[in-house]
Amino acid sequence: MSLVKGVPLTRRRERAVPELAGKVPVSTPAMPRAADLLPYLERIDSAGWYSNFGPLVVEFEARLSQRFEAGTQVVTIANGTIALSLVLQALELPAGAYCAVPSWTFVATAHAIRMAGLKPWFVDVEPVNGALTPEGLSACLLDAPGPVVGVIPVAVMGQPMDLSAWQGFESRTGIRVVIDAAAGFDAVIEAPVPVMVSLHATKSLGIGEGAFVACRDGDLIRKLRAITNFGFMGDRISRQEATNAKLSEYSAAVGLAALDMWPSTRLRYMNAARMLRIGLSALPVVALQEGWGLDWVSSTCVVGLPSGASEFVEAELADQGIDSRRWWGLGCHRAPAFQNFPAGDLRVTEALAASTLGIPFFASMEPDQINRTVNALSGALHRFEVMRKGSSK
Ligand SMILES: Cc1ncc(COP(=O)(O)O)c(C=O)c1O
Repeated sequence: MSLVKGVPLTRRRERAVPELAGKVPVSTPAMPRAADLLPYLERIDSAGWYSNFGPLVVEFEARLSQRFEAGTQVVTIANGTIALSLVLQALELPAGAYCAVPSWTFVATAHAIRMAGLKPWFVDVEPVNGALTPEGLSACLLDAPGPVVGVIPVAVMGQPMDLSAWQGFESRTGIRVVIDAAAGFDAVIEAPVPVMVSLHATKSLGIGEGAFVACRDGDLIRKLRAITNFGFMGDRISRQEATNAKLSEYSAAVGLAALDMWPSTRLRYMNAARMLRIGLSALPVVALQEGWGLDWVSSTCVVGLPSGASEFVEAELADQGIDSRRWWGLGCHRAPAFQNFPAGDLRVTEALAASTLGIPFFASMEPDQINRTVNALSGALHRFEVMRKGSSK
């Protein structure tokens, strides 16, 4: 139940649920098909090399690094959560110190901080785009609960970020910066500080489970690679505390096939995004992320709604067979796992949690699914307004 100006908003339940013409899913992965993988799987068969930095992983990392400016290196890692944690570990940050993190992120970011032996300090984000900025963090550093040794800014739902500004923040403060660009495969293509991109099946370039870290600092990349491989550096001497978080040749096969398809996958995402944008242009209260589907794309569409409308609209859409998702829930600080960690003033995060919603979006979205989504959203917003007016009388 949402509260607007202290008045509980409840939905009318008496409307008949229409006969559903098939649900519209909130997301459908755009993964390579078996036939796309075959040439790569045959290469694995002939080489008889299945993991431990085999030829497909080497090629996949080389092709990923070409997306970044010259001099950037890439290491692939088992998944994004582990990757973030291992970067923090490679930076040798003192155990028990604080790592600032926007609460407006997926819980994985905070789990990674805990796994690295650090404590999350949840900070607020900018209302305009939901992102933590160097200025925002600088302004609240004096209120930190203890020594802050790191920060993980997040590319909100894959949107572009000013990474040079974060590099400047790191030089000025000595606080180490690691970027969580889990959904930023398309938009985040520079790495003056370490950048993690997830390759989970739900992301725009998906391989199932996987991630990569890009960085200009070759020493950090070498160390990180060793940490993914028992601390070995080309021999069998374990030089540091480490784990096994390598990608197998099979995952790299999916990655190479996904990269082959990427130009067309990206166009399909862009095309679906444009159709959805056209439909949503009839609903001026619905805000899209700046540049989404025009300058950059991701595998999700997260819209801004009138204040306090998320929960109501989510339930209304469900009644119409339209799946939606509050991808980041109520903010990380509200998750039971993190309730006992310190948090600053999180007014913007709380407001975003109550006014944003992930609506259906995928590369293969059909015009009919777009129409149904837009119509259902339009009806839900109309009912929200009627109810809000009624409850404020
Ligand atoms: C913001 C953010 N960070 C980290 C992750 C974790 O990535 P992975 O699923 O590859 O572990 C995700 C996953 O969706 C995410 O959205």
